Amino acid sequence: MDFKQKHLLGLEGITKQEIQLILDTAESFKEVLMRPIPKVPTLRGKTVVNLFFEPSTRTRISFELAEKRLSADSVNFSASSSSVLKGETLRDTIRNIEAMNIDLVVVRHRAAGAPQFLTQCVDAAIINAGDGQHEHPTQGLLDLMTLQSKFGKLDRLKVVIVGDIAHSRVARSNVYGLQAMGAEVGICGPLTMIPLEAEQWQARIFYRVEEAIEWADVLNVLRIQLERQHRGLFPSNREYHQLYGITRQRLEQAKKEVTILHPGPINRGIEIESELADSEFSLILNQVTNGVAVRMAVLYLLSSGTAPETPESLNG
Ligand code: CP
Repeated sequence: MDFKQKHLLGLEGITKQEIQLILDTAESFKEVLMRPIPKVPTLRGKTVVNLFFEPSTRTRISFELAEKRLSADSVNFSASSSSVLKGETLRDTIRNIEAMNIDLVVVRHRAAGAPQFLTQCVDAAIINAGDGQHEHPTQGLLDLMTLQSKFGKLDRLKVVIVGDIAHSRVARSNVYGLQAMGAEVGICGPLTMIPLEAEQWQARIFYRVEEAIEWADVLNVLRIQLERQHRGLFPSNREYHQLYGITRQRLEQAKKEVTILHPGPINRGIEIESELADSEFSLILNQVTNGVAVRMAVLYLLSSGTAPETPESLNG
């Protein structure tokens, strides 16, 4: 099967077949990552630039590792030590980097639409590593991979995204990706954190976390984005935890097994009880592990434009 996307800007509009191809390719790379020497020459000769205008731990390191595991040449750009500080525009920055002959750009930017803008400036393939409050497609894909590994399928799985939906690019990518794969999606949070656009998502909306837990097979617990709160959307962290915090007591009251995801970084004791984040319910570190394989798959498919014939063909 061919992979026809030139860029990965978001999961909105991406097909079930394309997502499944990424997940299947990621499973093959997961096998590579478990070898004594977890490296293949698949992207030898390709150059990737990691362009981060916002802080990141998981996404940046996982893209860097994915590039190294694929034998690509990779370069890291950090806005805080670049000529952006001297006033250079995003367009000039990327056009100067492209003049050094690059193939792929991984970009994280505070402005929604920045990755889309870059597609109009350069010929390189662009991968969105999180743009403002818009999308974070590789996070959505690694969440799907983690759930598919646990449940065997995504069709009709009930997933509730809990928390600050309005500010969350992870929420949008999860809604689009999960619905494409046939999952049933719910969102849960205070009214001030549910965006108007949610009415168009055909997702169940829960304002009481207890009802969300009753319904869900999976809770994807979002970080309260303290740095993006321009006005008080809830009275205090303590009150948020009391009303919406995911706690062992709440799970026990529902008397059912619920799987917990969290994209990180975690505000322990606010959106989730600290102990629960490390408990038997949590797949949080599995998500991080799967992130490397998913990003290898995305880099590979955007470079080659086609599915691997066999897992062995990924050996180069
Ligand atoms: N999940 C996520 O995007 O984490 P980072 O901000 O650390 O990359």
